[in-house]
Amino acid sequence: MSALHGTRVVLGVTGGIAAYKAVEVSRRLVDAGAHVVPILTAGAEKFIGRVTFDALASEKVQTSLWDESSPIPHTTLGQTADLIIVAPATARLLSDYRTGRSDDLLTATLIATRAPVLVAPAMHTEMWEHAAVQDNISTLRDRGVHIVNPEAGRLAGGDLGFGRLAAPETIVAHAERVLSAGDLVGTHVVITAGGTREAIDPVRVISNRSTGKQGYALAEAAWARGARVTLISTVDRPDPVAVEVVQVASAAEMQLAVEAVNTADVIIMAAAVADFRPANPADQKIKKGDAATPAIELERTHDFLVDLGASKAEGQTIVGFAAETNDLVSNARGKLERKNLDLIVANDVSEPGAGFGHDTNKVTILGQNGAESDVAMSSKRVVADAILDAVVAIR
Ligand code: CTP
Repeated sequence: MSALHGTRVVLGVTGGIAAYKAVEVSRRLVDAGAHVVPILTAGAEKFIGRVTFDALASEKVQTSLWDESSPIPHTTLGQTADLIIVAPATARLLSDYRTGRSDDLLTATLIATRAPVLVAPAMHTEMWEHAAVQDNISTLRDRGVHIVNPEAGRLAGGDLGFGRLAAPETIVAHAERVLSAGDLVGTHVVITAGGTREAIDPVRVISNRSTGKQGYALAEAAWARGARVTLISTVDRPDPVAVEVVQVASAAEMQLAVEAVNTADVIIMAAAVADFRPANPADQKIKKGDAATPAIELERTHDFLVDLGASKAEGQTIVGFAAETNDLVSNARGKLERKNLDLIVANDVSEPGAGFGHDTNKVTILGQNGAESDVAMSSKRVVADAILDAVVAIR
């Protein structure tokens, strides 16, 4: 379940062209189960109508210190919030927040809270790079304010540069990370994802049906729980927020990429690594007119999960996956023992709705000493969190 579920989030919107994107931030927060209380500054109201927020947030928009029925609204919003997000945050807001001004509802709420605060600035490149703005940012960061840095892209007036508001999904992912239990803070987690591709010739490959969805869900969940994450992937999916992604194709390339980070605290081999590859891939495309139908001779790939298990360092956690179509638990337990793993995630890929390509999965997580727990059919993100719960429990 999202760390935002059941939380009360004040969403402050200031007056910038990116204010329209705050509507999408609000919608995503509500979708994740948060109760969203929107505050628009006078400037924000010039860019976006309060009716839009009234319809999409959990409460009506508040804008002023003076027009509310409660006698002390400037403190109640801050006191009752679990998290305050300001998106977009203008240079003025950063300056006011830094100096402790409280002459409108949003700044008063920011001063009258002990909840964590997440600020997503957006402004022109020159303004963002100005020493005064950078000074305000670093002071706020030193005080524990969470900053979602702006991105490069198109700015107001058609300029291109750095200063564009981070994407709504990025802001919401940061909010989840701020509110999470943080049980993987200080932990480096390596995750592999997708099916490897083994060359037959320069244009053809042997591969499998893995789409990498479970691995990407694991990467997102691990980052949200505070980990530093390296994702080694064979698939072309949008990069998860703030995760280092290393693209590879074959089992041999994946092995090299994993070896480069094999001292990580946790390694989760969710990838479907080929067990066999063409023994003699052709240098040039095989033409159908060349000869008779070619026979492709296969050879075994190297099982580098065996290496990881054999060289496991003290305190390191190694997790394997077992994609099976029969005798799920006994096959998977055999792999757990043979490969010296701490956990194995047994995945019955013949079950409807589970395994390759689906958005849902159903797994059994096996551990040392006969430990076994079933995760009912659920989204791959829920399954990812269940796997990480099992990792955290044995560390
Ligand atoms: N794996 C690996 N390198 C390989 C093959 C598999 O690191 N060359 C890893 C997978 O990423 C997965 C685990 O080993 O985490 C299980 O892979 P699987 O192919 O199902 O297991 P095998 O031991 O090869 O058993 P079998 O082929 O008999 O099912």
